[in-house]
Amino acid sequence: MSLADFTSSLDSLLVAAEKSLGLVADEAGLEELRVLYTGAKNGQLKSIQKGMGSLSSDERPAAGKKFNEVRDSVQAAIDNAAARISGGSLVGASPKSSGTKKSVPPIDPTLPGVRPRLGRLHPITQTIEDLKEIMGRLGFSATEGPEIEDTWHNFVALNIPEDHPARDPLDNFYLATAGKNASDPTALDAKLLRSQTSTVQIRAMESQKPPLRIISLGRVYRPDEADATHFPMFHQMEGLWIDTSVSMAQLKSVLRMFATSYLGGDVTIRFRPSFFPFTEPSVEVDYFWNDQWIEFGGAGMVDPNVLKAVGYDPEEMSGFAFGLGVERLCMRRYGITDIRDLFRSDVRFLRQF
Ligand code: PHE
Repeated sequence: MSLADFTSSLDSLLVAAEKSLGLVADEAGLEELRVLYTGAKNGQLKSIQKGMGSLSSDERPAAGKKFNEVRDSVQAAIDNAAARISGGSLVGASPKSSGTKKSVPPIDPTLPGVRPRLGRLHPITQTIEDLKEIMGRLGFSATEGPEIEDTWHNFVALNIPEDHPARDPLDNFYLATAGKNASDPTALDAKLLRSQTSTVQIRAMESQKPPLRIISLGRVYRPDEADATHFPMFHQMEGLWIDTSVSMAQLKSVLRMFATSYLGGDVTIRFRPSFFPFTEPSVEVDYFWNDQWIEFGGAGMVDPNVLKAVGYDPEEMSGFAFGLGVERLCMRRYGITDIRDLFRSDVRFLRQF
């Protein structure tokens, strides 16, 4: 026998075996085929294998390899036929067999199902939605502003003079934008990542006539070292109410109603004197929660210089503004102790909200 004969008889055996095993429809028929092809005594594979003895010794390695491949393929065809007949998987079954018997994977309806993984809103997004909803009920509509700002909106119009420490390049993310003022943070059109949402007050007043009752919620950036309570990016909510006679008492009631709605229960609020260039007088706002005073944010009556900068008449109009940290509110509510957890994108953490 030559190697070519040996190989071609294996090939035709495989063709015949795959064909008949693809068609066989019951256990008895399958057993007959199994004996026919792989039977240890008189199986067809066995008798071809015997022919190997007449091959030369340098032909034998190739012949052995071929024999093993065909034997494995025949075995796979037998396994598939067995699975198909017992109603198991159809994996690898010959397409010719699909008409003979429909098989369905076994399903145990009493087992619990596999739950699809659902995405959910980030806790900060949820907090922002809540804040918008509460402030909406108080008559404040949400506006937005760009995160890349110019020094006019971030500082100048907010009455923050050129020599003010808040404008220090070490405390801000100035951008190396192309153009003649790229490296001069005092230029009006120098660009930076906004360090506060108060920029949106200016944009809103520049584009709308009073009265105005808005909030703006968004990201702000400051080059702080990240630790449990600081992160170089965080979110603020800015509020602004401008009308002919807005008072400090209204500011206090709005913030108190807001805190009560967000935290639940009756929340006491206190004002501590403070300073911001864009408000006069200015206050720090605290609220009383779980037996302690907690910092809420800054607020005050809009400084006449700011009203003038946007073309409002400070003799006619007055208003208040406030700015709160969103992370702090979110962390208080859910008992989160490290701000960095919010931005690690660890689903094991995020799945809990
Ligand atoms: N912009 C101030 C800050 O970032 C907060 C603030 C807003 C204070 C509005 C007064 C009025 O700290």
